[in-house]
Amino acid sequence: MRNKVTVVGAGNVGANLAVNLANKELADVVMVDVVEGVPQGKGLDMLQMGPIEGYDVRVSGANDYEPTANSDIVVITAGFPRKPGMSRDDLLMANYEVVKTATEQAARYSPNAILILVTNPLDAMCWTALQVSKFAKNRVFGMAGVLDTARFRAFIAQELQVSVENVTAVVLGGHGDTMVPVVRLSNVSGIPLTELLDEGTIARLVQRTRDGGAEIVKYLKTGSAYYAPSAAAVEMVESILKDKKKVLPCAAYLEGEYGIHGLYVGVPVKLGSNGIEKIYELKLTDEEQAMLAKSAKAVEELVSVMKQKMR
Ligand code: APR
Repeated sequence: MRNKVTVVGAGNVGANLAVNLANKELADVVMVDVVEGVPQGKGLDMLQMGPIEGYDVRVSGANDYEPTANSDIVVITAGFPRKPGMSRDDLLMANYEVVKTATEQAARYSPNAILILVTNPLDAMCWTALQVSKFAKNRVFGMAGVLDTARFRAFIAQELQVSVENVTAVVLGGHGDTMVPVVRLSNVSGIPLTELLDEGTIARLVQRTRDGGAEIVKYLKTGSAYYAPSAAAVEMVESILKDKKKVLPCAAYLEGEYGIHGLYVGVPVKLGSNGIEKIYELKLTDEEQAMLAKSAKAVEELVSVMKQKMR
């Protein structure tokens, strides 16, 4: 049986995602975009890369959803990226419409698919996709934590001059300025971060992680990060298609976990062929719990704006 993955949005994140999926020979890939010719052209280009890289997957592009039928996974990257000075939240209403349409169409053609959201503001877009698709919550979730922890890990590794492979980091909460890097649980081969770096340095790395996306937007000026975001989504797709059951931080729909109800927030989950197979509830300190509650509140404010719009 061949796996099939649809990538909605053939822009920076979507196209890199497609090429990474092909390179890892994880699935046949269909890209969908509203711009005529772009997904078709990029798809053909990636197909022709196959003989060089040695992958046998079919890659194609379309402006409609018929070719996406019966996908195992649909990754939604369609929408507008940030420009300098914008927060992810500034994208809310424009991307709400994009994600609504994409979800309706994707769910219609692939009723058994797992939906992975990448479009920002991430946690609010996951909520939209859950409402629109009416899929079970284990099949609708978002990519944020893998990226945020990768940023934190990269900064820690750079600071300590150690391999990124040895660095484990925990980041909880919404994918925004209120995200909660949990220093207490972050370590280098089991050695607590707090034993390796002083408080001031840790605080600086935490802040740089929170601002990780904005730092790149400032350099790029016309868009936001895409290499690490697309790689992060690929790690999630791989864990699902291979049923690896990796424990990864993802935006998951919480119904009471961490005292949060009816919202998407980043937490550690087990990702396998059934999507989110388990949500891990960590014991947090009062301070961490308060930061998480603040982060959830920020997500709730965005969701309430969308609820009004949906009325
Ligand atoms: N259906 C399909 N594709 C769409 C739609 C739609 N309704 N609306 C826009 N698109 C496409 C655009 O044509 C474009 O090709 O989505 C693509 C977005 O690509 P980029 O502008 O390059 O943006 P990108 O960097 O890929 O970011 C996409 O991911 O990380 C998030 O914040 C980021 O929300 C943004 C999203």
